[in-house]
Amino acid sequence: MTEDTGTTVDEHIQNNIQGETWEVVHYMAMALKADNEGKTEVARTLRDIALDEAAHGARFKYLADEIGDLKEEIEKMLAGEEKAFDGKHEGMREADESGQKEVASFFDTAAHDEGRHAAMLRNLLEQYF
Ligand SMILES: [Fe+2]
Ligand SMILES: [Fe+2]
Repeated sequence: MTEDTGTTVDEHIQNNIQGETWEVVHYMAMALKADNEGKTEVARTLRDIALDEAAHGARFKYLADEIGDLKEEIEKMLAGEEKAFDGKHEGMREADESGQKEVASFFDTAAHDEGRHAAMLRNLLEQYF
């Protein structure tokens, strides 16, 4: 039997959402490293695990009733994507000025992804809500 630490169910759920979220990013970063070392099967397995962890975190968030009205959630995420677009461009400029070319280049790429995410969400709002 595991020891009772006095942690409430809600605390366990919140700890798990945070833990799983961190794991997703960490496993995905490990997969990139494995890819760069030519270890394709290692990368694939690490990505499979990352996807499981994402699903765990998502299910805990859902069970914790943290997802409200879908239209409002999409609007909230849209605002976040637009902010991320600006923030990543700011990061790109800073990285560029300090001579970190690869970082600057990725901030640019990721900023465009955020812009694309915003467009996709806007599209959903127009089409379905
Ligand atoms: Fe997990
Ligand atoms: Fe995004």
